[in-house]
Order: sequence, then C-alpha cells, then structure tokens
Amino acid sequence: MKDRRPWVIAIDGSSSSGKSSLARLLAARLGYLYIDTGAMYRAVSLYFLEQSISVHQDDMVQDALFHIDIDLRHIEGQLHTFLNDRDVSDDIRSMEVSSIVSEVAAISKVRRKLVEQQRLIGQDGGIVMDGRDIGTVVFPDADLKIFLHCELDQRVTRRYEELLAKGRDITRLEVEENLKHRDHIDSTRLDSPLTQADDAHLVDNTQLTMDQTIETCLALIAGLE
Ligand code: DC
Repeated sequence: MKDRRPWVIAIDGSSSSGKSSLARLLAARLGYLYIDTGAMYRAVSLYFLEQSISVHQDDMVQDALFHIDIDLRHIEGQLHTFLNDRDVSDDIRSMEVSSIVSEVAAISKVRRKLVEQQRLIGQDGGIVMDGRDIGTVVFPDADLKIFLHCELDQRVTRRYEELLAKGRDITRLEVEENLKHRDHIDSTRLDSPLTQADDAHLVDNTQLTMDQTIETCLALIAGLE
C-alpha cells in the first residue's frame, strides 16, 4: 500500500455549534490529534483579564504576547490548555472569558501569534483542528474542510444546559446574548472573519444528534480514500 501523509481536517463554525465535540470524536476515530483553537484565544483572554490588559492598549497587548506561552496537552484522553505552564482548562470556560474573547480574537497581533503556532502543530498532518478560520486561513489546503452550521436557538439550548451541568449561575438570556454578540464580532471582524471556505462541506446539525453528525462527517472522510 502506498504511504500517504495523514490528513489535515479543518472544522469551522460559530460558537456552540458542536465543533469541538465533533472534532474531538472524529480525531479519536481516526487516531489523530485534536486541537481546539478557540481554547488558545480563550487562554490569551484569561491572561489579559488577570493582568488587567484592555484590548485597546496596543503596547500592552504587544508586550503581553511575548509573555504568553500556550500549550495544548492531551492528558488521559482529554485536551488540557496550559497558560505559562498552568492548567487553565476550566478557567477559560468562564463567562468573564467568554465575554471578551471575541474582542481579543479580533486583534491581528494575537491572531498572527496563534495562527503561526497552529500551523506548526498541524504541519505533519494527522490532525483535526476546529475554529473559525482553519479552512480559510490556517490550513487553506486542508484535505477536508467542514463548515458546521447550527441554528441559534439550538446552540443556546446546548450551551445553557452545558453551563448548568457545570453548576454555573447563569440565565438562558445571558447565554443567548453572549452567543449573538460573539457571532456578530466573529463574522464581521476585518481579520479572518468566520466564513465558509468555497471548498468546505456544509453540515447543518440543527436537527442531528452528535452520532448522526459524526456519521455524516465520516462519510465525507471515506470519500477522501
Ligand atoms: O470556539 P470558542 O467559542 O471556544 O472560541 C472562542 C472565541 O475565539 C470565539 O469568539 C472566536 C475566537 N476564535 C477565532 O477567532 N478563531 C479561531 N480559530 C478559534 C476561535
């Protein structure tokens, strides 16, 4: 059998569309590495919050980027996010981080640093990476691009239930406002806005279970063989 380079699979879509779960499960099925790029933007946001750096303080943002080291490590089957060697996997999921992360992700300097790191991580293939610009900017030559769509109401329900299960004190309305706000900023920012690549496969999972979504994507992957 001819050896081939393992694939790069790019999954993009809006907040809480189920990208991360899909990417994680697909990576497990393929024996590939799973990379959640949103976690990297969240880690930068957490650093800014902890250091009281505003997204408008250009010099401080620039300086901060020299002091930020982000590492994604797979520990016992789970992806953990490390910020300067501290496991921040839970902290980056807070509403405080969620409420500023889109503004942080709109800063070109931040994007440049993280995109460079993402390309290094994925350069040898064998990876499923999810985000907003993976198929358009990070890996425009990805072997397979999936653009995951899910209607807002369904995304709000999923995210709200997820946060409640974690014991977070939050209303459904707050979750909805946050998702709308992030959708708006993520898709209208100047640098690498969320958009479907021309050659991406659109998968609408509004009415699909996660198992059905995975089956749909596995069928697309089978088409690569
Ligand atoms: O996937 P998420 O909700 O954890 O992402 C957090 C934020 O990071 C989201 O508002 C958009 C931004 N993001 C981005 O701009 N580019 C990516 N590749 C991944 C996430």
